Amino acid sequence: MERNKTPAIYQIYPRSFQDSNGSGTGDLPGITRRLSHIADLGVDAIWLSPIYVSPMIDGGYDIVDHRHIDPMFGTLDDFDAMVAKAHDLGLQVYLDQVLNHTSDQCPWFLDAIAGDEGMADRYLWRDPKPDGSPPNNWLSQFGLPAWHWNHKRRQYYYSQFLPQQPSLNLRCPGVQDEIAAQMQGWRNRGVDGFRFDVVTAFLWDEVMKDNPPARPEVQDKVAGENFNPYTYQDHVYDMLPGDGASYAENLRKWAGEDAYLFGENTSGNQSIELAMAFTQPGRLDSVYTTDLPEGRGSPAVVADMVDRSESLHRIAGWLSSHDQPRHSRGDASDLVLALQMAFLPGPWIIYQGEELSLPQPKLAKGDVTDPLDLLYWPDGPGREGARVPVPWTSDPDDQFGFTSGIPWLPMTWDSDGIRRGYDVVLPFYRNIIALRREHDWASAKVIACEANGDILDITILTQGGQRFRGLFSHGAGQPGDCSETEPLFRTQPDGDYGWCGAIWQV
Ligand code: GLC
Repeated sequence: MERNKTPAIYQIYPRSFQDSNGSGTGDLPGITRRLSHIADLGVDAIWLSPIYVSPMIDGGYDIVDHRHIDPMFGTLDDFDAMVAKAHDLGLQVYLDQVLNHTSDQCPWFLDAIAGDEGMADRYLWRDPKPDGSPPNNWLSQFGLPAWHWNHKRRQYYYSQFLPQQPSLNLRCPGVQDEIAAQMQGWRNRGVDGFRFDVVTAFLWDEVMKDNPPARPEVQDKVAGENFNPYTYQDHVYDMLPGDGASYAENLRKWAGEDAYLFGENTSGNQSIELAMAFTQPGRLDSVYTTDLPEGRGSPAVVADMVDRSESLHRIAGWLSSHDQPRHSRGDASDLVLALQMAFLPGPWIIYQGEELSLPQPKLAKGDVTDPLDLLYWPDGPGREGARVPVPWTSDPDDQFGFTSGIPWLPMTWDSDGIRRGYDVVLPFYRNIIALRREHDWASAKVIACEANGDILDITILTQGGQRFRGLFSHGAGQPGDCSETEPLFRTQPDGDYGWCGAIWQV
């Protein structure tokens, strides 16, 4: 079957979606139970954050075994049942692939420490400098040192994230064979596509030279705030030397022609250019960058993406995820942003609970488990707030329908806000996703795009030859033309005229 190249994708963070057994943690039977909620939204696919065997130091992105489900989420039978139900409901299923690193509990890594040189080749081990210090100045993307000493091997190993996530050597044939086999295994179970974690961090230069300091024009653009020392380097040697993006041709080969493939680009530096490199023919379908969420979908950011990309079809749009604070504010701006996302051509990723306008909860330090949040506490943007479980009812006494046990993070949702979410925001999302599908905006191309201060003015041409114009005011008041002719669709003024959005067929 020809793959849909511009799907609307609903991201599920399984730990926080729906618990079925009172453990306080979401699981696969819980997802199966709630699939009709997602299908009713009208999206094309679900993407599951990792469900594989993991000690959960990095929320499941630290994997011990990519071929098996962690018992906290259920069994392979539960997985098969979930896929079958999703397909019955017309939803494709995409799985997360964390190929850049494993958990330090992975048997490969443990065998490497025990002296198995074949397994050691699957990672990056280097002797210390004569003075005992690490081989070079590379840093982890979280701002920690990238090199960690192992006294048994008397060598350093490399890790681009937490010390518990040793980086894999993706050029190693043994690693490649494993990846190909495990991806094929998931395809055989009916999986339709994959999301590749930190795909732009896959390769480093084997000369292993020190990175130079960041050029001033780069420094501000590297992902993360400047309180993270990673932003102080120009990542010329530790990130994608040469045409590193051609590695995506392997991913395509291993996953199959008919799989939908998208990747995460965590480097704000040249984000769009990298996205274009990774989505050349024979590579990934799309890459998502942090431009949109970091700019909260502002007119300037959208116009810049349109300018710098060859096609928005190759950049997946999103505003919230398990890694970013939720963007919703519980006011008209949420609806305007949603309409703008529905209108923009290209794939669109909706994060669980966004369709209810869930705001970013504040967590107490004692409740937080994410090592990255704790590292910069209380100053980082904070990832775990966005992982607070989804409320299925507005009743706090019933743990908002998430679990019959104690939720793994406290759920302090405001019941009135949840009721508004279900009564107002959810039907709005259903409407606009239906419009996106009916008029095929996703596969259209942009023919004009202008950011005038707080107003985004964008015109698209659909494959069927129809033109639509969208005007989105981000707090600038109602643009003049908004009132001239009756639009096809507009956000209802709700007293907050600063934000409004409307779409016309022109
Ligand atoms: C990606 C994941 C994030 C994780 C990191 C390291 O950015 O989305 O949650 O911590 O990769 O695997």
